[in-house]
Amino acid sequence: MAIGYNATISAPRMHAMCLQLLEENLKPGMHALDVGSGTGYLTACFAMMVGPRGRAVGVEHIPEFCFNREYSEECCGYTIEGLFPFYSCWRYDGRQGWPEFAPYDAIHVGAAAPEIPQPLIDRLKPGGRMVIPVGNVFQDLKVVDKNSDGSVSVRAEPSVRYVPLTSRESQLRCY
Ligand SMILES: C[S@@+](CC[C@H](N)C(=O)[O-])C[C@H]1O[C@@H](n2cnc3c(N)ncnc32)[C@H](O)[C@@H]1O
Repeated sequence: MAIGYNATISAPRMHAMCLQLLEENLKPGMHALDVGSGTGYLTACFAMMVGPRGRAVGVEHIPEFCFNREYSEECCGYTIEGLFPFYSCWRYDGRQGWPEFAPYDAIHVGAAAPEIPQPLIDRLKPGGRMVIPVGNVFQDLKVVDKNSDGSVSVRAEPSVRYVPLTSRESQLRCY
């Protein structure tokens, strides 16, 4: 469903699938990064799961979405005061990750990258997991696990269809 600025909210079943894939890396106290957080719905789910000792960070390059926090919080039944200490959204190019609170136990990317961005792999903690759609027209949801020795394992989940992870200028060009 369109949310403006050539972006969409992800299908509920995709949010559910990503939460299941990341479940072990969203335990209380863990750090989670949501790249291309859009509405902030999934970031708020992360915040609920990691709790007040954890951190849930959304990164979004459309500033209007970063200020639209109330919507997500309302959906999750949280007050703004309750979420603020461990939920934040930043206007930034998410392909670079977000240095504060790195390394992350969980990284979710809500837009499709032509290939897995190395800065996001670098921000992942050993034992951490990233879920990212990869491809252009044909995309696979990739599950990237960083092993304790720093090496990386990648497996593919079913095919998906996401808007591209791109520059703000490219995204807004046809808007
Ligand atoms: C499928 S949409 C939103 C997904 C989000 N999980 C939701 O359901 O609201 C993907 C988002 O990625 C954002 N995006 C695309 N490229 C980006 C980039 N380089 N940096 C940050 N955000 C980006 C878009 O603006 C859009 O809001």
